Amino acid sequence: MTKEKKAVIIYGSPRRTKSASYHLGKSFIKGLQRGGFEVEEIMLANQKIHHCVGCYTCWTKTPGECIHNDDMNALRLKLRNVSITIYATPLYIFSVPGIVKDFLDRQLPEFEPYLIERNGITSHPYRYELEGFQRRMFLICVAGFPEQSHFDAVVQMFKKKTTTAGETYIGDILIGGSELISKDNSQQSFKKLYEYVENAGYEVATIGKISEKTKNLIKEVYEFKPEELEVFRSMANKYWDSTIPRDYDKEDISISEEKIPLKLSDGGMEATFAGMAMVYNPNIIKGLTGVFQFHLDDEIYYLAFDGNKCKAYKGSYPKPLTTIISPKDVWMKISNGELEGRQALMRGLFQVKGDMNLLIRMNEMFESTKT
Ligand SMILES: Cc1cc2nc3c(=O)[nH]c(=O)nc-3n(C[C@H](O)[C@H](O)[C@H](O)COP(=O)(O)O)c2cc1C
Repeated sequence: MTKEKKAVIIYGSPRRTKSASYHLGKSFIKGLQRGGFEVEEIMLANQKIHHCVGCYTCWTKTPGECIHNDDMNALRLKLRNVSITIYATPLYIFSVPGIVKDFLDRQLPEFEPYLIERNGITSHPYRYELEGFQRRMFLICVAGFPEQSHFDAVVQMFKKKTTTAGETYIGDILIGGSELISKDNSQQSFKKLYEYVENAGYEVATIGKISEKTKNLIKEVYEFKPEELEVFRSMANKYWDSTIPRDYDKEDISISEEKIPLKLSDGGMEATFAGMAMVYNPNIIKGLTGVFQFHLDDEIYYLAFDGNKCKAYKGSYPKPLTTIISPKDVWMKISNGELEGRQALMRGLFQVKGDMNLLIRMNEMFESTKT
């Protein structure tokens, strides 16, 4: 394999494989590989990389060699032998996590100390210049906050780093509000995103950049619109509230024992709710007591939690904690994984009343169901 068809991906999240940036990076390289690239994966959190101490020994006493003898020596060699470096990293304080910053700083021995002009700005020459081929860089970055402007500084940093080093910044995928992506049981919900990101990787391999079409698909589905921000903040706050069990008003929500719970053998929508009750995991919101109600067209169902168990019923309950009001077909598509729950909510395809937390944590509460 020639260097032109080789790439290296740098996973920068300290969460390793449990991270959103890792999942997106994996999809991207799947596309690159489909486009004929050989890709090496580097999990930075598994590497031993000391901080640069700024001694410049790599420029003076031992040119090209750092005083630290750690994993960075081998990693620098890898960087030299590829045409594309992909950084898949979370946003930490408008920049990259410390392990990524150390990795960037420790690339200093790759350069000579002399000053040259490159792309209209002062820079250093490469110590190991690659003849006749262009090094390229691609950024995948995820952030907790939803607005794209949170990425401004990190994009600027990587752009500056690459252009001054004579590399080409070939594009980026910047996903805000990404916290859900890192959850194992949400992977199904992000199927479309992974598909687009894989396609982006394929395009980078074959045409050298992401097409406008793919860019727009990602933007359309995963960039928050101004009118969605308040819903996002409210959902996020409910999630945080849920890390401390809520003090539900138990008097108002005691559940009648007279009704007969739904069973799988009831079939149809009844069976769907009976199935959810069966797989309910009481450890997600400990001590949850109350009702989660669903108005699907003219039919009403509810899931009743009594602190430990969950039962499903047909009919309505006077004081539900949360009520979903949705056309039946929309809810079916969400349940089947054909429609992404978050996106459907943002687009007003269904409504939620009351405590948003039950909706946010549905995937976790009913492990084998999908939203
Ligand atoms: C120390 C720290 C700093 C963070 N700084 C920011 C930030 O400046 N802006 C932001 O939107 N999110 C910030 N976040 C949130 C992460 O970007 C977010 O949780 C992301 O989804 C993590 O991605 P990962 O799963 O790939 O690690 C920060 C998280 C941590 C732990």
